[in-house]
Amino acid sequence: MTAGVRAAILGRRSVGRVAPDPLPRALVAELIDAAVHAPNHHLTHPWRFVALAGDARRAVGEAHARAVARMRPGHPPAGLEKEAARLERAPVVIACAVAGAPGDPVRAREDRDAVAAGVQNLLLAAHARGLAAIWRTGAMADEPEVRAALGLGEHDALVGMVYVGRPLDGAPPPPPARPHVDAVTDWRGW
Ligand SMILES: Cc1cc2nc3c(=O)[nH]c(=O)nc-3n(C[C@H](O)[C@H](O)[C@H](O)COP(=O)(O)O)c2cc1C
Repeated sequence: MTAGVRAAILGRRSVGRVAPDPLPRALVAELIDAAVHAPNHHLTHPWRFVALAGDARRAVGEAHARAVARMRPGHPPAGLEKEAARLERAPVVIACAVAGAPGDPVRAREDRDAVAAGVQNLLLAAHARGLAAIWRTGAMADEPEVRAALGLGEHDALVGMVYVGRPLDGAPPPPPARPHVDAVTDWRGW
């Protein structure tokens, strides 16, 4: 592994708080281009991205707030406003979805894996560009209101919402502890 690749992989962190300054579209396109270079069995090109900025974040956030209101009747209006503003925590939110492969469970699994690998590429590309990002999912990923707002089809699935922005001043969060290689590897024939 080159020092640069190692530094990118080990230096990347999930960062939730970022500056509100908008990002150039070309920069976001570069991140998505990194994603579509992930491994992809049979080159099915299963990824679908919705790159949200400005008011488009609000529209999806309001769809999420409608889902919360449906699931939790009586949720206070202030709480719903907070839900509606969720996507405004970063200037750019990239919804990363996998196109459905109905009737082909092997392809569906492999396609989703390819999109997940693409998300990691995207995160590493963002880090290499000096940006801060976080992969979020949670209940939002399955809410029909959010899926409709993103234009997902019946068989499509939302793999992650990647929030991206420029980092705020200050040290990045410390790396979370990870297991030693030997704790997760069954070495055979070495
Ligand atoms: C599939 C997936 C979903 C995630 N969803 C969330 C989320 O909803 N909220 C969140 O704060 N972090 C989320 N994360 C980020 C993880 O919490 C984060 O990667 C983990 O804490 C390790 O930190 P690091 O990325 O800085 O190494 C998600 C990560 C993955 C892979």
